[in-house]
Amino acid sequence: MNVLRTIDEMRAFSRNARSRARLLGLVPTMGALHEGHLSLVRAAKEKSDVVAVSIFVNPTQFGPAEDLAKYPRDFEKDRALLERERCDLVFAPSVEEMYPPEARTWVTVEGMSDRLCGRSRPGHFRGVTTVVSKLFHICEPDLAWFGQKDAAQLAILRRMVRDLHLAVRIEACPIVREPDGLAMSSRNAYLDPEERKSALVLYRALRSAEASFAGGERDSARLIRAGKQEFSLEPGARLDYFEIVDPGSLEPVRTIRTPALIAVAASVGSTRLIDNLIVAP
Ligand code: PAJ
Repeated sequence: MNVLRTIDEMRAFSRNARSRARLLGLVPTMGALHEGHLSLVRAAKEKSDVVAVSIFVNPTQFGPAEDLAKYPRDFEKDRALLERERCDLVFAPSVEEMYPPEARTWVTVEGMSDRLCGRSRPGHFRGVTTVVSKLFHICEPDLAWFGQKDAAQLAILRRMVRDLHLAVRIEACPIVREPDGLAMSSRNAYLDPEERKSALVLYRALRSAEASFAGGERDSARLIRAGKQEFSLEPGARLDYFEIVDPGSLEPVRTIRTPALIAVAASVGSTRLIDNLIVAP
């Protein structure tokens, strides 16, 4: 497995793959890999000839009071996991490589970037769309894989690719969960055993709204009430939002007539967690 650190090396690799008519699949990550990430790598392997995984903890998507400095990093462990998946290439650039001094150019998907996590994390999605567009320009993938776990990120990236006519196809994979339902996340490593139990409230709240939906309820306000009720019973978690939106536009939905995204974010101790599910009439 190749480990490339510079943009020039990555470009040369990608051009070579292209000249040999190989389909290049890219899986962008921030490392601290778990089964969720690996599910993307496996899906990418099925549909592309060459699979590249990028590992880059992107500073511009973290707010000033967020966990950039303590974000888990273990390159050797990540490399071993990817080696085992028979991934072809890891692109792991430095911050200096990705952001020239005094970089001033941003890619923003307006409107959508202020929704869901964008409201409580101003600038977060601008950081994501900027770094992912850099990765697309550098790696020139034919296909790129993202997880449904970050549903708003996925919707915003799809819109970016559409609006900018980028020559990459976005593919999505379902959320990978722990056996008890907790969505896998690199941030789960921050949770102590007590917090790990409290963290289950996110999925419990989603399931409660889903059960009400399955019982015929279509009014979002009532479904949201069912979900929030679970949080009122869990003092270990602080709810940020519990919303029902259109999965494509992220606009709030009042009455569910087409597939709708139920999305939740909450803090457990100092760890911010997100989860979601889609309900379809
Ligand atoms: P990161 O949080 O490392 O996630 C990388 C990819 O793995 C994302 O597409 C995310 O949705 C997916 N993923 C994470 N947990 C998952 C799970 N439990 N099941 C399925 N997929 C899961 O998302 C980012 O990094 C960054 O914002 C990035 C896109 C790399 C830009 O910096």
